[in-house]
Amino acid sequence: MSEAKIALVTGANKGIGYEIAAGLGALGFSVGVGARDGQRRETAVAKLRAAGVDAFGVPLDVTDDASVTAAAALVEQRAGRLDALVNNAGVTGDRAQLPTTVDLAVVRAVVETNVLGVIRVTNAMLPLLRRSASPRIVNMSSGVGSLARQSAAEGELTTGPVAVAYSPSKTFLNAVTVQYVRELRGTNILINAACPGYVATDLNNFQGVRTPEQGAAIAIRLATLPDDGPTGGFFEDAGVVPW
Ligand SMILES: NC(=O)c1ccc[n+]([C@@H]2O[C@H](COP(=O)([O-])OP(=O)(O)OC[C@H]3O[C@@H](n4cnc5c(N)ncnc54)[C@H](OP(=O)(O)O)[C@@H]3O)[C@@H](O)[C@H]2O)c1
Repeated sequence: MSEAKIALVTGANKGIGYEIAAGLGALGFSVGVGARDGQRRETAVAKLRAAGVDAFGVPLDVTDDASVTAAAALVEQRAGRLDALVNNAGVTGDRAQLPTTVDLAVVRAVVETNVLGVIRVTNAMLPLLRRSASPRIVNMSSGVGSLARQSAAEGELTTGPVAVAYSPSKTFLNAVTVQYVRELRGTNILINAACPGYVATDLNNFQGVRTPEQGAAIAIRLATLPDDGPTGGFFEDAGVVPW
């Protein structure tokens, strides 16, 4: 079994996920770079290794059962356990998402990745997480998933456009996170949801105002919580995000 702590970051080939992998690597983690595209994955792994990170590629499409099962087998073979799982992979669904006109296929596709993907990956990795002395799960949510913020008076809203697929997918993910916390209460697994802020990445055509490195910070913090750290929370850099 490896001495270094082991992390797996989904969607780690670019954007915030890449910087989470880089940050955990800088803290001494051996980092599995979960990515669905072989070329993008290997490029990211090479870049991380050049920066001194003990990175390894993990072929991983979070919407595909066989891919996720194989990813768990790869991590098991490589490390025998998992200390931190960061469920970062996500999609917006791109196309117009006004509730009254939305194409249901867009809603389904976003939920498949942002919610079912997280459940699929988490359940596949749980046996490996249970072997860790200090397992952590971080679900990359968003402030747009906060019903408190979405339902605040117009003008106080800082939470993106009307979007019936993406925003509710993060609300759903938050609810899923809480259910995991309830089932796993009493174990040593700390599970939290994170909001990275509005970050310039492909996801928003680089319209965000924060750097991917800034966006990664909260996930890195939650992936490396001390044993008496919080579980079942929703956090951004500034503190607690209201559900
Ligand atoms: N950017 C923001 O302002 C912001 C704000 C709040 C929350 N977030 C959340 O932060 C997370 C990262 O977003 P980002 O801004 O870094 O976006 P990004 O640059 O578009 O990166 C998204 C990552 O997810 C991967 N991915 C998508 N579908 C996947 C699948 N089925 N299987 C495996 N990987 C998949 C992408 O891989 P490919 O390269 O193969 O597409 C990519 O690596 C997402 O969960 C997003 O919702 C972002």
